Amino acid sequence: MRLKIAVLAGDGIGPEVTREATNILRAVAELGGHDFTFVEGLIGGVAITENGTPLPSATMDAALDSDAVLLGAVGDNKFNSLTPDKRPEAGLLQIRQALGGYANLRPSIAYTALAASSPLRPEVIENADILFVRELLGGLYFGEPRWWNKETNEAINTMRYTRDEVVRVARIAFELASKRRKKVTSVDKANVLEVSQLWRATVTEIAKDYPDVTLEHQLVDSMAMHIMNIPRNFDVVLTENLFGDILSDEAGVITGSLGMLPSATIGGQVNLYEPVHGSAPDIAGTGKANPLGAILTAAMVLRHSAGLEQDARAVEQAVHKVLDAGYRTADIARGDKNAQLVSTLEMGKHVHQALAESIDRRQSMHAV
Ligand code: IPM
Ligand code: MN
Repeated sequence: MRLKIAVLAGDGIGPEVTREATNILRAVAELGGHDFTFVEGLIGGVAITENGTPLPSATMDAALDSDAVLLGAVGDNKFNSLTPDKRPEAGLLQIRQALGGYANLRPSIAYTALAASSPLRPEVIENADILFVRELLGGLYFGEPRWWNKETNEAINTMRYTRDEVVRVARIAFELASKRRKKVTSVDKANVLEVSQLWRATVTEIAKDYPDVTLEHQLVDSMAMHIMNIPRNFDVVLTENLFGDILSDEAGVITGSLGMLPSATIGGQVNLYEPVHGSAPDIAGTGKANPLGAILTAAMVLRHSAGLEQDARAVEQAVHKVLDAGYRTADIARGDKNAQLVSTLEMGKHVHQALAESIDRRQSMHAV
């Protein structure tokens, strides 16, 4: 298996956690005899500092020329006074648009070992396993017109969707649900917004092609509450860009930390992989960052871009194993007396070790 991966580590903790993720990919390549190559590029605040733009054309070219893009995080308080189109985040939105992936998959699961890290009671989060399918190229993030008129003190953003944009992301949600617990919850605000009415009508229509999958609709406000009340009720949650941004952060509470959440964006020319967490400038360089979100993102690279499902699972199981063994970065150490506090680097090493053991075991089983 050959895979060319563009690595855009970005800002803050991005480089630290991405290093652990690429180490894991290197280990999988070595243990399985695969040929993975890595090409680095600048994005976000570091790119503004070095090149004066959050997405230099060299980065864009490298990304388009790769089989998968692995991104760390973007965002730097230094640029807070800039308008949205000049900020580090603009680089991320531009690359999302250029790569063309419209379905952002954000799994959020409850880890038994981390039950104490979640502020929710263990019996509430037990068996929670939600896969958010967030539409990533439409809605308020990209709708025109958009402006802020400082003379009239008026500003506008536009929430816009076409039927086709809803159809393509809905199909991905139904396909994924049919391989899981066969339920799609579509989230909108159809009691107020025309865009949501189009969304709901379109999703309802597409559901007819997937008779084995149950569809339910939820309004985004009550959904925000249901996710906290009975997370195990949800399987695939399909929603538009901004609602998905908000709800997927909320669902971090189920897992115990935003630092645990991976994501993959599929459907475009090149898949884009990024942990859900941001650049966390307050802890950058302190060794406190949790690399597990980035490592689980690497597992998604193996699953969705390399077709190495077994290896993807091996990485996920290695993460389970280190958590069961009690290793914790600071963000997931809460309320856990037996936790063994480790640094970003140490956490990466423990996952690597658990992974090597499980791949070794698999290979020796095949050998006999
Ligand atoms: C995310 C982030 C981004 C988003 C920001 C950094 C532009 O919050 O990936 O969830 O809003 O999509
Ligand atoms: Mn977000």
